[in-house]
Amino acid sequence: MEVTTDGSPVEVYLLLPPNGEAEIVHAAVPPDASVLELGSGAGRVTHPLAELGHELVAVDDSPAMLAHVRSPAVCVRIGDLDLGRTFDAVLLGSHLINTEQDADRQAMLAAARRHLSPDGQLIVEWHPPEWFDTAASGQGRLLGEVTIELADVVRDGDLLSATVRYSARGRAWHQEFTCRRLALDHVLTSADFVFDRWLTPDHMWFAARARRKG
Ligand SMILES: C[S@@+](CC[C@H](N)C(=O)[O-])C[C@H]1O[C@@H](n2cnc3c(N)ncnc32)[C@H](O)[C@@H]1O
Repeated sequence: MEVTTDGSPVEVYLLLPPNGEAEIVHAAVPPDASVLELGSGAGRVTHPLAELGHELVAVDDSPAMLAHVRSPAVCVRIGDLDLGRTFDAVLLGSHLINTEQDADRQAMLAAARRHLSPDGQLIVEWHPPEWFDTAASGQGRLLGEVTIELADVVRDGDLLSATVRYSARGRAWHQEFTCRRLALDHVLTSADFVFDRWLTPDHMWFAARARRKG
């Protein structure tokens, strides 16, 4: 079974259907906006966004994930990305911004910043601070044919560690992760962004813009 550097099981991401992510991004950006998707995985969000009319470039450091992506794709660590061009929108989904590693987060946001056009938008899916108070073992849901359940939740200051258990077709996978509660304004300001607006009522998605100088 192939697993990415961050522990994502490739088979699970091939079974998981889109869950409205592309529509959230599409509603937030101009209809013909070019989109750079950071951490695209197997294209679960990439493909519906492309079908909505956007030019997509997908970025991931997993060749096994990118083998399934039908849009132009670049296999590289996000922090090392340097395409020499900008996009109308940069998408950083899947809570990647909540990485426990401050240096990784800074590198991802710096990559997003240098690939964003002056009037472009950074679109982020994150775990808002409230999630760190309410996440609990046993919480579960069904997405397509995949049952997703949170287990082994442990809190340590700003960090929350847990295991996600996936099951489908009589098989099971799991992914351990640790994520960090963030002070959003500080995180954005130090990466030369400014908060723009919430994109969903649950505050799981937001847009930011490049900070204007002067
Ligand atoms: C949880 S999966 C989500 C994939 C996709 N966004 C989706 O929603 O289906 C996270 C993906 O981000 C990629 N990833 C995580 N950190 C990365 C990094 N620093 N550089 C490149 N890819 C990264 C992983 O390889 C994995 O494919």
